[in-house]
Amino acid sequence: MGILSLRDAYQRSVTYLRVSVTERCNLRCFYCLPRGSHGCGRRPQSSLDELFEVVRVGVGLGISKLRITGGEPLVRPGVVDFVRQLSLLDGLADLALSTNGTLLAEYAGDLKAAGLRRVNVSLDSLRPTVFKEISGRDDLERVVRGIASARSVGLAPIKINVVVMRGINDTELPDILDFAASYGAQVRFIEYMPLGLGQRWERSYVSRAEILASLHDRLSGDPPSRRPGDTATYFALRHGGEVGVISPVSCRFCELCNRLRLTADARLRPCLTHEGEVDLVPALRPFVNRDALERGFRDAVARRVAQGSYAAPSDGSPGEFRPMAAIGG
Ligand code: 5AD
Ligand code: SF4
Repeated sequence: MGILSLRDAYQRSVTYLRVSVTERCNLRCFYCLPRGSHGCGRRPQSSLDELFEVVRVGVGLGISKLRITGGEPLVRPGVVDFVRQLSLLDGLADLALSTNGTLLAEYAGDLKAAGLRRVNVSLDSLRPTVFKEISGRDDLERVVRGIASARSVGLAPIKINVVVMRGINDTELPDILDFAASYGAQVRFIEYMPLGLGQRWERSYVSRAEILASLHDRLSGDPPSRRPGDTATYFALRHGGEVGVISPVSCRFCELCNRLRLTADARLRPCLTHEGEVDLVPALRPFVNRDALERGFRDAVARRVAQGSYAAPSDGSPGEFRPMAAIGG
């Protein structure tokens, strides 16, 4: 037990677990899921009770930060009760949820009451036609309403995650900052990662340097800051507040990586960019075996690599490509 108990071969402690509750999503962002896809649904998802058992064991091993992801987590029935169960675990310092925001107006109040602390909302464009071009749905207004609801129920801080794409939303960055400020939210611009389904990656990728150049007028010029366990670098804004830039492509942050991912079909994934996963199903069925779950966490930590690679090499374990929605965006 204790916070040092999940430490990898590179002396990184694992204290953060991203829990995907579903591969499904009600949007079809082209960089994440191919059009017409319904997620990959390779095998049945685990029950939320099973995922809870896994998380409970992880928290016993020193996981102190949880994020619920998907797919879109709010499409999974029972997710509010799942949040309530998680929020009662001893030893949690942070409980957050990442969402595309489309269902947030409906769920924000219940989520807050269930013990959720905060939300990250993906929002790539404020232009309805561009939003639709990216996501396949005409849902911009619902997302904006979701952000407003999150604010009004006190889910804070709200972070708005924006994948920056050339020729698509790269001229909107200052507008997005203003929009976020009007909702008391913080923006994080994310470099587009080449994750297999992003066929448009080569022409759409915008580097951190270019992102910063396009925000030049807005930045105070103070040196950037980082926080432990946070993948973003934060830059102070001239008119107050900060903007985050997450640059997994141009500036790897693997040395700071403190996370594992739990997929909706109960696999622990050591690294976003590697296919090697530890299957926990045998530790869950026909009955929950806590010792085997603990071993699963230790195996996953042992598989962590020093540095991720988007070229999808393998660490020797059998793997298969899974889109971001299946890994837990
Ligand atoms: N590059 C960067 N971020 C991605 N996401 C999904 N796919 C990618 C990608 N190829 C992240 C984004 C998005 C969330 C669903 O997952 O943050 O908003
Ligand atoms: Fe961690 Fe892998 Fe991402 Fe690097 S690439 S930060 S090791 S998850």
